[in-house]
Amino acid sequence: MKRASAGGSQLLAWVLWLQAWRVAAPCPGACVCYNEPKVTTSCPQQGLQAVPTDIPAASQRVFLHGNRIVHVPAAGFRACRNLTILWLHSNALTRIDAAAFTGLTLLEQLDLSDNAQLRAVDPTTFHGLSRLHTLHLDRCGLQELGPGLFRGLAALQYLYLQDNGLQALPDDAFRDLGNLTHLFLHGNRIPSVPERAFRGLHSLDRLLLHQNRVAHVHPHAFRDLGRLMTLYLFANNLSALPAEALAPLRSLQYLRLNDNPWVCDCRARPLWAWLQQFRGSSSELPCSLPPHLAGRDLKRLAATDLEGCAIAARPSRPIRTGGPTDDERLGLPKCCQPDAADKASVLEAGSPGSAGNALKGRVPSGDSPPGNGSGPRHINDSPFGTLPGSAEPPLTGMRPEGSEPPGPPTTGPRRRPGCSRKNRTRSSHCRLGQASSGGGGAGDAEGSGALPSLACGLAPLGLVLVLWTVLGPC
Ligand SMILES: *[C@@H]1O[C@H](CO)[C@@H](O)[C@H](O)[C@H]1NC(C)=O
Ligand SMILES: *[C@@H]1O[C@H](CO)[C@@H](O)[C@H](O)[C@H]1NC(C)=O
Ligand SMILES: *[C@@H]1O[C@H](CO)[C@@H](O)[C@H](O)[C@H]1NC(C)=O
Ligand SMILES: *[C@@H]1O[C@H](CO)[C@@H](O)[C@H](O)[C@H]1NC(C)=O
Ligand SMILES: *[C@@H]1O[C@H](CO)[C@@H](O)[C@H](O)[C@H]1NC(C)=O
Repeated sequence: MKRASAGGSQLLAWVLWLQAWRVAAPCPGACVCYNEPKVTTSCPQQGLQAVPTDIPAASQRVFLHGNRIVHVPAAGFRACRNLTILWLHSNALTRIDAAAFTGLTLLEQLDLSDNAQLRAVDPTTFHGLSRLHTLHLDRCGLQELGPGLFRGLAALQYLYLQDNGLQALPDDAFRDLGNLTHLFLHGNRIPSVPERAFRGLHSLDRLLLHQNRVAHVHPHAFRDLGRLMTLYLFANNLSALPAEALAPLRSLQYLRLNDNPWVCDCRARPLWAWLQQFRGSSSELPCSLPPHLAGRDLKRLAATDLEGCAIAARPSRPIRTGGPTDDERLGLPKCCQPDAADKASVLEAGSPGSAGNALKGRVPSGDSPPGNGSGPRHINDSPFGTLPGSAEPPLTGMRPEGSEPPGPPTTGPRRRPGCSRKNRTRSSHCRLGQASSGGGGAGDAEGSGALPSLACGLAPLGLVLVLWTVLGPC
């Protein structure tokens, strides 16, 4: 047919076409092969159940999407040294051999998305793809990211991992991806963002984490994301977010935090303060608690709305009964409980050693890299709302009632925790702290004098002073 139709003014074109045909031939049965603009083997939606074995070696682009391919064998494309684009999305892949893409050193785009039965990818599958700039792994039913899965992919710019079943963000999973600009992780089951999850992502522009189950973000989780412009965390399980986590996001322009169960009490003060100075565009943050603020936008509350504890700790603490407190279940730092983040210190409340160690471990600067890499520290930047210079003792460090009269509020170490509940009779924390601290913690109160407090003493000192004067020590 091709020879018969040649002739006339199109002769030159046909000669070129025939030359191209010779280079690309033979074309696999279900495919269309052509040479311009790139040498291409295109076989979409052909009902293929296996990767064709006779794909022309010169192919620069191979389109195999929309078939019923279940397996990508080892070396399935080995002959195609010039392959730059490979589309395998919307198949029925259940297995990709670890060596399936070996030797494809020029590969730039790999689309494996929409293969819901895949579920797992061998961690070495993408090794050696040093030119890869786009990797689609969305809608693949992935449960986890194997160790080193993205190792060495220094050219990667777009990584699509959304709509999988990912249940964790492993430490350093993206560490080599210094050129990555887009990381899509929405629509998974990620419960937390640990400290090292996003290390190395110095070029990241867009991080989509919405529609997960994120309840915790580590205060240093976003440390390397100085170029991030878009962060979506909406539709998660956040009741609190450490403002310290947001501090390194110097380029941030678009922030979405709506549709989370925000607890708008003293612990939201640092986030509230960060939002007040944020110049980009941000979503609403409707409060879910306390009830009288439900539905109100955290951003638009007054500082004075954010007092006290929306959820009271159980009166049985620190003599624990075993079950988690409301605070713990919500992932909140304890209100009026300075050593809140350290479970051990709660468990062993009253033991001077544990309380002291717990405090030591939580001095904010102790976590920072040497050389103060985390930027200027604002009074409200720390995760628990510290009040540098007016340190308050840990609750476990309080003297038992009567053992020594507390000093005036401004003397620091012996001042009682700054619960801002105005009605003493309802403030179980305050009475609890006094009643149950035991004698063992007395020394810690002195020792903690120089440390920033983690209590919710965020009310202005004047207010504390007034309250203290009016109510006296609990
Ligand atoms: C790859 O491309 C180069 C340069 O265009 C060409 O010389 C070489 O033959 C191609 N390799 C294959 C396997 O076709
Ligand atoms: C990363 O991006 C920079 C700047 O665009 C580029 O010079 C460099 O080659 C890229 N790295 C890789 C491995 O492609
Ligand atoms: C949300 O977080 C709370 C407290 O951390 C937890 O009890 C609950 O199961 C979480 N919800 C989901 C859907 O993960
Ligand atoms: C960090 O340390 C350097 C010198 O060690 C100092 O000049 C700089 O002001 C410090 N920055 C902050 C934010 O503390
Ligand atoms: C304090 O609590 C008591 C008893 O619950 C109540 O009668 C009183 O009105 C409260 N006072 C304030 C200022 O809330």
